[in-house]
Amino acid sequence: MLDADLLVHNASQLLTLAGGPQRGSQFGTLGIIEDGAVAISGSEILEVGTSLDLTERVRARHQVDASNRVVLPGFVDPHTHLVWAGDRAREFEMRLSGMTYMQIMAAGGGIRSTVAKTRQADLETLKSSARTRMRTMLLHGTTTAESKTGYGLETETELRMLEAIVQLDDEGPIELAATFLGAHAIPPEYDKRADAYVDLVCDEMLPAIKQAWQSIGGGRELPFVDVFCEKGAFNLEQSRCILERAQSLGFPLKIHADEFLDLGGTGLAVQMGAASADHLVHTPEQDIIALGQSDTVAVALPCTPFGLAETEYSPASAILDAGGILALATDLNPGTAWCESMQFAIALACRFMHLTPSQAIAAATINAAAALQRADRIGSLEAGKQADLILLNVDDYRHLGYRFGTNLVSSVIKRGKILIEGGQERWTSPPLSS
Ligand code: NIG
Ligand code: FE
Repeated sequence: MLDADLLVHNASQLLTLAGGPQRGSQFGTLGIIEDGAVAISGSEILEVGTSLDLTERVRARHQVDASNRVVLPGFVDPHTHLVWAGDRAREFEMRLSGMTYMQIMAAGGGIRSTVAKTRQADLETLKSSARTRMRTMLLHGTTTAESKTGYGLETETELRMLEAIVQLDDEGPIELAATFLGAHAIPPEYDKRADAYVDLVCDEMLPAIKQAWQSIGGGRELPFVDVFCEKGAFNLEQSRCILERAQSLGFPLKIHADEFLDLGGTGLAVQMGAASADHLVHTPEQDIIALGQSDTVAVALPCTPFGLAETEYSPASAILDAGGILALATDLNPGTAWCESMQFAIALACRFMHLTPSQAIAAATINAAAALQRADRIGSLEAGKQADLILLNVDDYRHLGYRFGTNLVSSVIKRGKILIEGGQERWTSPPLSS
């Protein structure tokens, strides 16, 4: 008999997503165990199998009956701008009356307006508004997320954002992977002096972050470094400069590429061995082919075109035909996509990127974990992996994608702890902002 702390059993479908990141014809392999069970010891998965098998072999202190429920790995959201101050509701209204996101940005609004608010916010204020969003993410089944800086655009505020991310990761309940996005926009004080700002990122910010990480990072690996490679933000040459400097300092890389225009960012990401290239709405064919032959994960963000009421989405079938590893994320941010729900990203990906529910689930779990270089630890239900799992109040996985606008998650288990049960929170939340 095996001793376990927790046994989740009787799942109508247990989706294991076993076997690592998925590409090619393998993409969308759920590894379904009918009448499935998971045995958990401490924060790890001990065994996965049928309920019949595990109830015979495992003696568990607690049991969760998952009858009529789908059980799957917690969602991994590999692209968010979780930490910010204020909101941009006014700009939403401006967009509805005809101004574009890029026009608002060129007129000094957009990212810059969130930067002004974020610079004024202290550490506690930043943490408290992010916690409110983290709680919503958890209720919707996200157990790990990436979180970027990029609303400071000066060393001090960028460091404060990183500190907020690390402290929120320590605090939980969602696990966070940090990304430094000092190159998110040109701050107003560097207007028309983009190259000087690039120098500041390269010569001051990156070394300062590397140094400060020894104390604020608490032994964690270095954060990712990301660049918004786009007209009105950073061109290809500037993006390359920043990413090369970051790589020489040992940072792993990401990029925002081809969201509005193709500047060559995806090709650059592949050449540099970036962990992921994100957005990819207007990626040219040769870059899609290069991406498909690489291990750089293509992160599609369907909430962004939806949030901007645009009609073009990432060309998933071209990326998949080329052999790419496709992941999904929310892009949670105050400008283009204030959405905490990976379920909604899945629903959009099914309709506008033509993924099947099983493909969208793989993109939101194991492949999303690969975009964070954590596929060895999260994103699937396999013995030895972290016990991060969710229960849906449906008995067939295809309800994910099919339904939208409501929450199908009934229970959330993070590192072996039941945090949400039957839709009720079982953890004590730290101070939330209203
Ligand atoms: O991923 N593209 C750049 N960054 C975000 C938008 C951030 C903002 O508007 O505040 C994005 O869409
Ligand atoms: Fe983004």
